[in-house]
Amino acid sequence: MKRRTFGQVMFTAAGGIGAAAPDGETANAGVPGQEQGVEVGEINEAVSIADIRLMAKARMLPATFDYIDTGSCDQTTLVENVLAFRRIQVLPPLLSGVGMTDMSTDVLGRKVQIPILLAPVAGQRMFHPEGGLAAARAADRMGTIYGMSSSVHNSVEEIAEASKGPKWFQLYVPKDRKVTARLVERVEEAGFKAIVLTVDLGEWKDSDRRNRFSVPKDFLVKHLRDIGFNHINMDMPEQDVQKFNAEAWDLALSWEIIGWLRKRTKLPIILKGVLREEDAHRAVIEGVDGIVVSNHGGRRLDGMPSSIASLKSIVEVADGHAEVYLDSGIRRGTDVLKALALGAKAVLVGRPYAWGLGAAGEAGVYRVLELLRDELQNAMISCGCAKVDDISAELLRLSE
Ligand SMILES: Cc1cc2nc3c(=O)[nH]c(=O)nc-3n(C[C@H](O)[C@H](O)[C@H](O)COP(=O)(O)O)c2cc1C
Repeated sequence: MKRRTFGQVMFTAAGGIGAAAPDGETANAGVPGQEQGVEVGEINEAVSIADIRLMAKARMLPATFDYIDTGSCDQTTLVENVLAFRRIQVLPPLLSGVGMTDMSTDVLGRKVQIPILLAPVAGQRMFHPEGGLAAARAADRMGTIYGMSSSVHNSVEEIAEASKGPKWFQLYVPKDRKVTARLVERVEEAGFKAIVLTVDLGEWKDSDRRNRFSVPKDFLVKHLRDIGFNHINMDMPEQDVQKFNAEAWDLALSWEIIGWLRKRTKLPIILKGVLREEDAHRAVIEGVDGIVVSNHGGRRLDGMPSSIASLKSIVEVADGHAEVYLDSGIRRGTDVLKALALGAKAVLVGRPYAWGLGAAGEAGVYRVLELLRDELQNAMISCGCAKVDDISAELLRLSE
């Protein structure tokens, strides 16, 4: 059996392929014409996530921008993530007397100022020199959670030093479980509040293969050392470092990992990448504290349904035994309202803040959060919701 390696599925550098992929730009920018007429100006002039995306596009290396922007294969799941939100309509009741909102909520018993968290996103130092440090600081300033990716290219200690705000650590599991165990200890020591175990592993994107997108050697060496592979160093030939990276990670995880992790940490465990009710049910039995309903932003396996389509039934299965969050396709404050109305405790965003980081570093990430916050506030006031708990499915019209 031919096994996929982490190098293949995460940062592919293999030869290009012939078929032309549809334009990721259209998939993400969405409304035809929306992308015209936006000047690349100051970040605070951006009035939508689509504006910020265009600023990132103007400022970033094309292959790095594509790495953020695109989805798997024909990108149908990427497009569906966005369109599925648009098919849900909001029908606000009139004369509710609400003129102010409190957007704060509790996530795993901890207060956040907005129900919008930063999803784990790899490679942030390729988007901006300050990378994850800038993103973590922006999340802290907004009073929300920074989800640090295993592959962000900073150590847990560096991220903890940059931001005292609440942080989750997303774990990709090294095959060497001693390295994993030590990493989990360090995460706890550094004050992270939860471990996010991503189980929908691997990305399969035409554009990255076509662009021969790969992580520069110095970033990769640092990343591997940050994880705890201390024997990796800059004196090694690049191909040896790449080969090590390609083989270092466990891509064949089973349910056993949750019990293994539970024995080694007191931190809450959040399972990321759940779409099936049976899996949500098993996750609850295994005792996870949280579930992220996610299809990895349409980056992994094209043809999967949107995550918003799975949300309601997974909330029902979790039945309060685990908190349920959602990511994949959030581009507007109304998307946040829709996800909360269908039972999500909070949402996570990936591409929006990756674009913000590429456009303007910390200020760009902050602007993304600000825009989503303000749009959510407008939606809540329009719907007569003075607080997050007032948001309910009554506000929605679901059409197929
Ligand atoms: C550039 C990029 C890198 C990502 N890297 C990771 C990662 O390292 N770990 C992970 O669990 N998810 C990763 N994701 C997926 C996000 O956590 C999240 O599930 C997804 O971006 C949500 O969809 P959205 O981009 O439509 O908001 C990545 C997403 C992007 C855009």
